[in-house]
Amino acid sequence: INEKVPEDKSLDNSLALMQEGYLFIKNRVDKYQSDLFETRLLGQKVICMSGEEAAKVFYDPERFQRTGAAPKRVQKTLFGVNAIQTMDGQAHKHRKHLFMSLMTPSHQNRLADLVMEQWQASATKLEGAGRIVLFDEAQMVLCRVACHWAGVPLKESEVKERAKDFSAMVDAFGALGPRHWKGRRARRRAEEWIKEVIEDVRAGKLMANEGSVLYAMAFHKELDGTQLDTQMAAIELINVLRPIVAIATFITFTALALHENPEWKGKLCSGDSDDLERFIQEVRRYYPFGPFLGARVRRDFSWNQCEFKEGMLVLLDMYGTNHDSRLWERPDEFRPERFKEWKGSLFDFIPQGGGDPAMGHRCPGEGITVEVMKASLDFIANKIDYEVPEQDLSYSLTKMPTLPESGFIISNMRQKE
Ligand code: HEM
Repeated sequence: INEKVPEDKSLDNSLALMQEGYLFIKNRVDKYQSDLFETRLLGQKVICMSGEEAAKVFYDPERFQRTGAAPKRVQKTLFGVNAIQTMDGQAHKHRKHLFMSLMTPSHQNRLADLVMEQWQASATKLEGAGRIVLFDEAQMVLCRVACHWAGVPLKESEVKERAKDFSAMVDAFGALGPRHWKGRRARRRAEEWIKEVIEDVRAGKLMANEGSVLYAMAFHKELDGTQLDTQMAAIELINVLRPIVAIATFITFTALALHENPEWKGKLCSGDSDDLERFIQEVRRYYPFGPFLGARVRRDFSWNQCEFKEGMLVLLDMYGTNHDSRLWERPDEFRPERFKEWKGSLFDFIPQGGGDPAMGHRCPGEGITVEVMKASLDFIANKIDYEVPEQDLSYSLTKMPTLPESGFIISNMRQKE
């Protein structure tokens, strides 16, 4: 039907997707000089699209829905089955309001303070410890902070395993085989743990402060006035804890960015909030984390000479949009100062999705992510000295999600006066 739309002719492109990873959509958008193309993935016809205009279309709730979009394998690892990511309409807005109310600027600042405190406590403990893998340390710091802030009890002896489980759920999103199964086991363990915590709060055996994430999830009421069942309350509480731990990936890339652009160390030493912010925004734009998003066509429409048929799966290219040369001058250069001029469009800078988070599916945790990254960058750049020994700092663009191979090892770390 779509004669004018490039069709990537191949029986099925699933293998190419695994082989090209973050660049799969961008490679074809560049090749066909078109914002969109049709292809086949996992046995179904899919439209892939990229760029600011495509993002605007993708976030139009009249045209797209999330019900039926996320494969079960992603729900059983990353999201949790039937969680907020798969909801639409009023029910979604109501659930989203719950998340948004927990991520206000005062929550963001509190988290940033806790993160700085935890980093400093870790530094005191680890000073003189030899080699430290920053990614591992960041996951533990964030896991302690996330649970403490949310009101979820966590013993120091549990931190490492819980942090690893949260990360394994994230690591499973693009994986087949062992990484996928590891993610499923991690989710099962985390859901059992958090279900028990929710039950204890509801039974009055565990105190939860009003205003805490734990309290909010345990006593949230659906539009019909009923409480979430324990499983769903646990899943949504995990939808707050897990992504906070996942900020470890961006923190690891932040350290890499500082290593690859040492001239910025001097610029950041004043601890100026605007400089810290521009630097971490550029980390979120430049380095790969989320590759693309999926939604299903809600009802037939046409855009860009392409017929979108009800029920079709459509993928929006996050990585490619963040590297689109129409939006970003010399997109493959790391230049934090570009954020001085950035207009703050809701659809051109989409490392955590696009649009208005209160109205659609854009990540509600961006404010938290930004503040936690700023505090971590301030710590790395200004509160410690360290060396970066010989190691493999390369990261693959075909493995999703990716990370510098070594996890970023530092040695001879000492606290500054
Ligand atoms: C949704 C990325 C941190 C909570 C999303 C989406 C992306 C994303 C791409 C999907 C957007 C869409 O479907 O249109 C990230 C990245 C993070 C991060 C890269 C940094 C590590 C956080 C944090 C929280 C959070 C810190 C909470 C504390 C959520 C929730 C959703 C979501 C609850 C589902 C929203 C919905 O379906 O309406 N995130 N996120 N995320 N994120 Fe984040």
